[in-house]
Amino acid sequence: MSVQEVVENVYAVGSKDPRRPLFDQLMPLEEGTSYNSYLIKGKEKIALIDTVYPPFEQEIEERLRELNIDHIDYIIANHGEQDHSGALPGLLRKYPMAKIVTNQKCKDITIGFLPLKEDDYIIVGEGDTLDLGGKTLEFMMMPWVHWPDTMFTYLKEDGILFTTDFFGAHATNFDLFWDDDPSLVPLAKAYYAEIMQPFARIFQKYIPRVEALNPKMIASSHGPIYRKPSFILNLYKEWTSSDKKNQTIIVGVSMYGSTDQMVDYLTERLTEKGIKVKYYDAVHLNATGLASDLIDSMGLIVATPTVLTGPHPAVVMPIFLTNILKPTLKYVGLIGSYSWGTLVEKQVGEMLSNMRDTTILPAVLAKGTPKDADKKALDELAEKIKEIHSV
Ligand code: FEO
Repeated sequence: MSVQEVVENVYAVGSKDPRRPLFDQLMPLEEGTSYNSYLIKGKEKIALIDTVYPPFEQEIEERLRELNIDHIDYIIANHGEQDHSGALPGLLRKYPMAKIVTNQKCKDITIGFLPLKEDDYIIVGEGDTLDLGGKTLEFMMMPWVHWPDTMFTYLKEDGILFTTDFFGAHATNFDLFWDDDPSLVPLAKAYYAEIMQPFARIFQKYIPRVEALNPKMIASSHGPIYRKPSFILNLYKEWTSSDKKNQTIIVGVSMYGSTDQMVDYLTERLTEKGIKVKYYDAVHLNATGLASDLIDSMGLIVATPTVLTGPHPAVVMPIFLTNILKPTLKYVGLIGSYSWGTLVEKQVGEMLSNMRDTTILPAVLAKGTPKDADKKALDELAEKIKEIHSV
């Protein structure tokens, strides 16, 4: 990827990382990701918006050379996570006159893990502006996108809103811009699911703010530049809304087949009632798929045998993931088989401490293989789920 012009005197100088297999050592990436950085040349000053993940520092330096940049005045740090800030120390060595322009929280975070000094920074706040000479940057404090330090930078004359991680996508199969091709949707949704989902309520306030600004382009720090901002804005409106599909998720594991029998029985009952069931194998978990489905499914059923006294370790990861992503599920259920005793309901309940607005349904736990009484309990569970879906 070489330098690309976004508009006159604004250039994309970031990197693509198409071979990166996982993000956060957690979520499989279909086509890697990108670390976007933008150079803005004003008549008097030059600013760089965000840097890149440190292994790509040399690439950004090559692109700046390609543009004959012999100095940078400001490096705007919209967010302190190291996929965007990690190259700050190297770039400051290369361009010693540059100052990092960011908010106090981002300074506190970056100075904590990068070799930076107090006087490397200029601190800005809400509504502050920086005049580069015919290119004016305005700063918008937007905390919790997905860290407390995040801010947006708006290039007023060109109408470009730089939104750090917000509106991102782990994508590399694009040139520079994206209009409305729906093939990006699963990638942007998976990204939202893992990174943004816990903050959906906060974003219900941020989305109207962006709409009111009416930018001509949205440039996130991952993925393409949206030349039609309504494409990604509409998706974010959908994902942050309380609207749900008539769909439930079962994530499960079975050791000798008894829990699987319960999953099959419940799936048939729910399907008969018109509810779509999406099953995830907890042992070979597709964490990206599960996280994405948590956005717009009505509920989640955990299916686990009791191992010693608690849940099978394979379901602990998806339960833990669900709890930290704080999806706006209407209910969580628990089914499974045990041999001689179980504390699984208590232990799973304790693992869902963040799900305060979600109904935790009574567990259906069968001693051994499911018998008639257990199937009756699953019938009742299916009926209860149907009632919730019908509201
Ligand atoms: Fe892409 Fe929160 O860093």
